[in-house]
Parts: sequence; structure tokens; C-alpha cells
Amino acid sequence: MKIIPELLLFVIVPFLLNSGNGIETSTHSINNRTPEKQPYRTSYHFQPRQNWMNDPNGPMYYKGVYHLFYQHNPEAATFGDRIVWGHSVSYDLINWIHLNNAIEPSGPYDNNSCWSGSATIIPGKEQPVILYTGIDDKKHQVQNLAMPRNLSDPFLREWIKHPQNPVMSPPSGVEVNNFRDPSTAWQGKDGKWRVVIGAQNGDEGKTILYQSEDFVNWKVDPNPFYASDNTGVCECPDFFPVNISGSKNGVDTSVQNPSVRHVLKISYLRKQHDYYFLGKYVSDQENFIPDVRFTGTSSDLRYDYGKFYASKSFFDYAKNRRILWGWVNESDSTQDDIEKGWAGLQSIPRQVWLDKSGKRLVQWPIEEVEKLRDKHISIMGEKLVYGSNLEVSGITASQADVEVLFELPELQSAEFLDPDGVDPQLLCSQEDASRSGIIGPFGLLALASKDLKEHTAIFFKIYRAPNRYVGLMCNDQRRSSFRHDLDKTAYGTIFDIDPNLKNISLRSLIDHSIIESFGDEGRVCITSRVYPSLAIDKDAHLYAFNNGSQSVVVSKLNAWSMKQAEIGREGNISYT
Ligand code: FRU
Repeated sequence: MKIIPELLLFVIVPFLLNSGNGIETSTHSINNRTPEKQPYRTSYHFQPRQNWMNDPNGPMYYKGVYHLFYQHNPEAATFGDRIVWGHSVSYDLINWIHLNNAIEPSGPYDNNSCWSGSATIIPGKEQPVILYTGIDDKKHQVQNLAMPRNLSDPFLREWIKHPQNPVMSPPSGVEVNNFRDPSTAWQGKDGKWRVVIGAQNGDEGKTILYQSEDFVNWKVDPNPFYASDNTGVCECPDFFPVNISGSKNGVDTSVQNPSVRHVLKISYLRKQHDYYFLGKYVSDQENFIPDVRFTGTSSDLRYDYGKFYASKSFFDYAKNRRILWGWVNESDSTQDDIEKGWAGLQSIPRQVWLDKSGKRLVQWPIEEVEKLRDKHISIMGEKLVYGSNLEVSGITASQADVEVLFELPELQSAEFLDPDGVDPQLLCSQEDASRSGIIGPFGLLALASKDLKEHTAIFFKIYRAPNRYVGLMCNDQRRSSFRHDLDKTAYGTIFDIDPNLKNISLRSLIDHSIIESFGDEGRVCITSRVYPSLAIDKDAHLYAFNNGSQSVVVSKLNAWSMKQAEIGREGNISYT
């Protein structure tokens, strides 16, 4: 990394750094309150009533109802050895009705847990089916099939398992304990169904392809669909087409024609991140050729550069869009989770499409979340000179939706950075929101205490790079709380920007202990989990700031208090 030396002269600290003020709140008493009174319980993010949740499973839209299944330990706030499929339904993807568990261990093929999988709706028959991973009585991973018992129940409350389970067992060249997470199936032109499954053999991570005519009898393809060395297991593969036209519309998973490209998403367990590859699905050879292979460096594309894992998308044919869900884990301690009585959130569902450039995906919170917008305030044309902290007051800053557009100065004045080989997380922690720059740092201070001693900084810096301009987007959690027992990584990513860029946008969904941020109109996303000790409920504040020597203008800022979503109504009571 190269930074112009005169910059170093500017090391003035316009807002206070955390040198520790001796405040150490008792997390024990906070976490021991009932979930409704706990400060870190969310108001509009999906979570079960209690206990552990991880991956989203089998999301789908079926006959007017959205379904979300999820990995759940109904016994404890920690992961366990009897994981089930929790099940909730919704008419709008925001308000949810909790149902009984849909799939629980019951036979030799899943006695030790029902792990992740996907739903597919078989057209014509209008029949939803689920493929999921069972941990069998030998603790091997196998794939099982489940179908709804009663298709006339709109909530599809009961699921029956196929008598021929398991329908797939680990093939040769795949470790028996690393063969999991079947994707949504797609249908080839020959009418056969295909799924990909995550696997590992030694250090090699693979996604392997199976084919079937009837969803019951599956044949493995001997060649991996996509393999990568030194990655370890590929979890939760997701494979889907996207429109190349720049349209935000999604397409059904089985669509194959010249107007689409394909996306393969893999969750690499070793990295704990969701990586996606744009590329070409070569259907006659049954493999996927990514434009760029996995490098293991910060140049690999990720859905989210913060906490977001084991994601899964589905095609919502009611609204012609593809929707993505991701698991957002806690970043406090296991002991905290036990005291809270719960762990794990799902992201706000995101609409996903291919950017006009064709080089990356764009994600944006589904429009339905805007129904929760309540008290609104707006700021227009406010110049943020060097050192500005502009309070965005009048809304509930702990439960908010904020959209801001920053007007940039001429880019030529930007600092120089050769981003080659730079670790963006390291850069975010070195640069710091409080450290002076030229164009940036500017952005938001969310979940901030009044005196700013506690805050999460979501910010940009713009750099002049060899032959181009790049942006750095950071989400710095290091001052997010006075508590010490938390993961406080400074998340970040570097991305190319248009040399004629005049404005850059930032949207943050703030919900007590989660901040989901969408930069540059959704081209770069960072999600974090933070547990403030001061900036709780009414004591939370929101600021827009600039610590760059060049002024930026808040050309438009809209912020809303968010209403509480209705998540948790009991849905089994009225069923006959
Ligand atoms: C990903 C994952 C999956 C597995 C599930 C178990 O987070 O490890 O590979 O099926 O969680 O809950």
C-alpha cells in the first residue's frame, strides 16, 4: 500500500477514540432479561422464539405463502447433535408465523440430525419437495427426500419422508462426513433434474452433480461440477441463473438461454465466508466454468464482507425476483448466548441481480421492509466539512432504516493507493474513521452513544489507483461496545468505482445488535453484529460524519424509525 506522506500530517482526532472509560456493564444482567426486554434482541430480523438457529433452508414461495425453514436446535442456544428443520411462513417475507418443526430426526438415515438442504417446486405437478442432509446412524452424511403430507394445507405444516431414503450416499472420492447441503434442483432440456452437493476430499473442496428423472433415483456425475484446491469442504452450494440485461428481474433456476449467465455460490467453512463466482454453465459437459477462479485473497467476490454465511436464494415467481437469505451469527460469547437464550439471525431478505457491468451482483433489501418505515426525517444539501459530525436526530436510532447519498469532490484529489495485495480489513483498521484523509473517511456512525465514545463506523474512502479509482468501504466494530468479550473486527472491502462518479450511496438497516449496510447502491454489502453497552434503545444515536480534508455533501439523507415486525405468532393452533 502506498499513501502520500503529507497525509500523515493530518493526524488530528476529531471524534474521540476508545481509550476505555472504565465502563463495563454487567452483560449477565442484560442478557438474563426475558427475550422481549433484552437490548440485543432484534425487532425486524427473523429469529425463532428461542434457542439456536443457523442456516436458512429451503426458502420458497408456494401458492401465496413464503416458507422459510432453518437449522435449529430446539433444546439449547448452542449448536447440538439433534438439529431439526424449524419452519415459519409469511405473506410478505417480513411478518412471520412460527410453525412446528418440519423435519426432525426419525430414521436410520437421519437419526443424528437433519442438516441443510433446499426446496424445489416440480412444475406441472405443482409439488414442492425437499432434499436435505441426514446424519445417519453411522454418522455418515446422506441425502434424503421429503414431501408435504397435505398439499391443500397452505402452510404445508407436515412433511413425510420418502420410504427409499437415503436417496444419495457418499460416492467414491468423497469423505463420508463431508457430503452435504443439496442445492435447489434445476431441470435440463432432457427433462432430467440436477442438483449440486457440497463435498470434500482431502484438501480439495468440490461441488458434485447428481442427475435424476424422478427425484428418487440419483446418479452421480464422475467429474466435479466445480473443484478448488486447498479450500476444505464446500458448504451450501447455490447455483442459479441471472439476467445479463441489467434487469432486476430474477429467473427460475431451470432457465438456460443466451440471456442469462450463471452464479455458483459456495460457503467455504475454513474461511467462514460466502463466495460467489459468475460464469458459464456448460450444460452438455455438466460443469461450470467461472470467469475467475477462487484465489483465497481479498479479490474473491463475496456477497457480504461482514458476517453472512450459508446463504441460499430462491426464485420468487410471485414478483419475478430472486431473493437471498443469509445466516448472521452472533459475535458475543457462547456463555452470552446461553444467558440470552437464543443465538443466530437471518439477514433481511435481499433481492439479487447482476450489475450492469456484468462483473458483480447487486443486492438490495426487499421492498416489503419499507412497510415498517415509520417516523421519517430528511436532510438535504448539508455540507460536511472536515471534522463534521451531523446528528440525525428525531428517529429511533436503535431501530432504523437510513439511506444517504454523499456528493463527492473531484476524484483527482484522492490519495494514491495501489490496492494490489492490500488486505482491506487491515486497511480499515489502519485508516480508521477518526483518522484524517482527503476524500473520506466519511459515512455514518451508527448505534453511537451521545458522546461518541461508543459507535460503529460505516464509512468510505476514495483512492486513486494505477489506471483507476477504487473505494474502500469499512464497517469498524472496534468501538461498538465497552464490552471486551466480543469479536470487534474492522470489516472492509476495496471495490472499483466509476472514474466519473459524482455520488456514492449508503443504506444501513440498524436493528439493536445488527447493522446491514449496502454501499454503492448495493454493489458492496457489510453486515455486523454489535452489542453496545451505552448506545441501547433510546440512548442510541446516529451521525453522518466526514474526516476527509475535502468536503462531501449529504445531498439527500432519509431516515426512518422502523416498526416492530410481527415475528412469532403461533401458526399451528387453528389447523384442523
Ligand atoms: C453450514 C452448515 C452446513 C450444515 C449445517 C449444519 O453452516 O455447516 O454445511 O448442513 O450447517 O447445521
